[in-house]
Amino acid sequence: MPDGMDVFKDLSKDMKRITVAIDGYSSCGKSTMAKELARYAGYVYVDTGAMYRAVALYAMERGIITREGIDEVRLAEVMPEIDITFAVQADGSQHTVLNGEDVEGRIRSLEVADGASRVSTIGFVRRALVERQQAMGREKGIVMDGRDIGTVVFPDAELKVFATATAEVRAERRCRELEEKGTPMPYEEVLANVRERDWRDSHRAESPLRRAEDARLLDNSTLTKEEQSAVLRQWFDETVNRG
Ligand code: DC
Repeated sequence: MPDGMDVFKDLSKDMKRITVAIDGYSSCGKSTMAKELARYAGYVYVDTGAMYRAVALYAMERGIITREGIDEVRLAEVMPEIDITFAVQADGSQHTVLNGEDVEGRIRSLEVADGASRVSTIGFVRRALVERQQAMGREKGIVMDGRDIGTVVFPDAELKVFATATAEVRAERRCRELEEKGTPMPYEEVLANVRERDWRDSHRAESPLRRAEDARLLDNSTLTKEEQSAVLRQWFDETVNRG
């Protein structure tokens, strides 16, 4: 290699853009870790759970999802009307935008989480959202979190992470978040909700939550945010530098 060319080789290594897929159970800090890694890498972050939540909100507001069930015929009709984007805020955080309206605050309730868990069992909803997610990741340089990113959306992702923590730890974290938002709920109720969603996410017929064979396991039950970040950054750097 002529003199100076090794510099270019190093630069091109730095510029290698990869796809990072982060999957795992609800409330195990996936989005915190995905956001943090995206900032570190200078990548785009996509929260796919927010997309299922936005579909649920849209359908709940129109009476398509009720306690009694889901009107799948009407949901299929309205799917093409649902436009979901993300708006970056001045502080760097992202808000979910549904047909031009910022719905970030409204999609985070337990009610919408429950609706999202239900719509996410429907094949045509998944296919429509997966297609949009794959389009968002076409250029790589993306960190996407969800349940099926490493298995279905980006099976060829260079770095796959499967995040987990015990149901009790996740329920405690969720309780704290709800309290901070001024909408506290009893721990037992939150724990039951976490368990129910785990069961539904991992037992549905369509793309159930499972660890991809080549995903690295990150159990953060006893890790601080800093320790978790350090692990992820190291995995990311190793993957990018592998060539
Ligand atoms: O991660 P979350 O709690 O915001 O996700 C909301 C619901 O959407 C959850 O029940 C699982 C579902 N989901 C999914 O099935 N596939 C994804 N890629 C992301 C979320």
